[in-house]
Amino acid sequence: MKILAFESTCDETAVAIVEDGRKILADQVFSQAKLHAVYGGVVPEIASRSHVEAISLLTDRALAEAGLTRGDIDAVAVAYAPGLIGAVLVGVNFAKAVASVLGVPLIPVHHIRGHMAANYLAFPELEPPFICLAISGGNTLIADVRSYTDMVILGTTRDDAAGECFDKTARVLGLPYPGGKPIDDLSQGGDDRKYTFPVAQVEGRPYDMSFSGLKTAVINLAHHAEQTGEELDRASLAASFTRAVSESLVPRAMQAVREKGYGKLVVAGGVAANSRIRRDFREAAEAEGIALYVPPLRLCGDNAAMIGAQGYYEYLSGACADSSLNAYAVMDISKQYRREDRG
Ligand code: KG4
Repeated sequence: MKILAFESTCDETAVAIVEDGRKILADQVFSQAKLHAVYGGVVPEIASRSHVEAISLLTDRALAEAGLTRGDIDAVAVAYAPGLIGAVLVGVNFAKAVASVLGVPLIPVHHIRGHMAANYLAFPELEPPFICLAISGGNTLIADVRSYTDMVILGTTRDDAAGECFDKTARVLGLPYPGGKPIDDLSQGGDDRKYTFPVAQVEGRPYDMSFSGLKTAVINLAHHAEQTGEELDRASLAASFTRAVSESLVPRAMQAVREKGYGKLVVAGGVAANSRIRRDFREAAEAEGIALYVPPLRLCGDNAAMIGAQGYYEYLSGACADSSLNAYAVMDISKQYRREDRG
């Protein structure tokens, strides 16, 4: 089954074609990062307009890349939540039109379910159940993935997402947006024990996380240094900050794997590209003898191939929409799409 998939929830416009949930036939991604960099973050209005400009062209390119024609497409999948609402609406409306013109099923896909499914593309042997830690720019959560479409949240961030925390810290350090990769680069060679940052615990909720205190600690440190004229060791600050994020993520995810006994941990989302976090997960997984799945870098960030992958399993579970499909800024990952829920 060949699925034409669309992703437009934030600042990447992406179109892909995926076969049977596992094989990428085309993977087109246009990053708007440069358009937003001057503002230090994503400007929703600019994101929506840029999606409108790019999505049609990328669709033509995806068909050409796969060597397919419109008639070869069996279904259309689209990320319909969560995200910047104006941006998500562009993808949803375009996907509705394409599905209608082609006369094929329309499959709504939760964006974070898509991030998880990036791992199905990278690891053909991977099947649920497993524990998934999703760490992206807008979401941070640990889920018990019981089947391809049945998942339960074990814990989430109470405030900022991990990626957001990277981006805000980068801004304080005068690094460009998005800040994750620049911090990663800067931290190489830094002393990760030079600065002490808080690793928050949420009482009674062992899998919940909080990153706002960490963000504030970085801001305070930078302001204090500015006022006293003290020179900050930026590489060590970046390394110490990343260690604190990693210490928030790794032990919790490992604890969830232990508790559920699946022996499998999947890490997904843009922050999964971080070299220190990848290394810490590798070491922890090796020490406990669990199977670890982290996508290759090109599948960590937003892309439409992951939407096509998850779309296949959503289709098999019966989640098809009609032309009344809406877009949603917020949605629980455990919510299974049902056509009768629309409204
Ligand atoms: O998954 P993603 O592309 O978009 C969302 O769905 O939100 O994640 C984007 C986030 C940004 O916050 C970016 O700074 C972060 O992923 N990121 C990284 C790295 N590369 C991207 N964070 C830490 N280290 C990296 N190497």
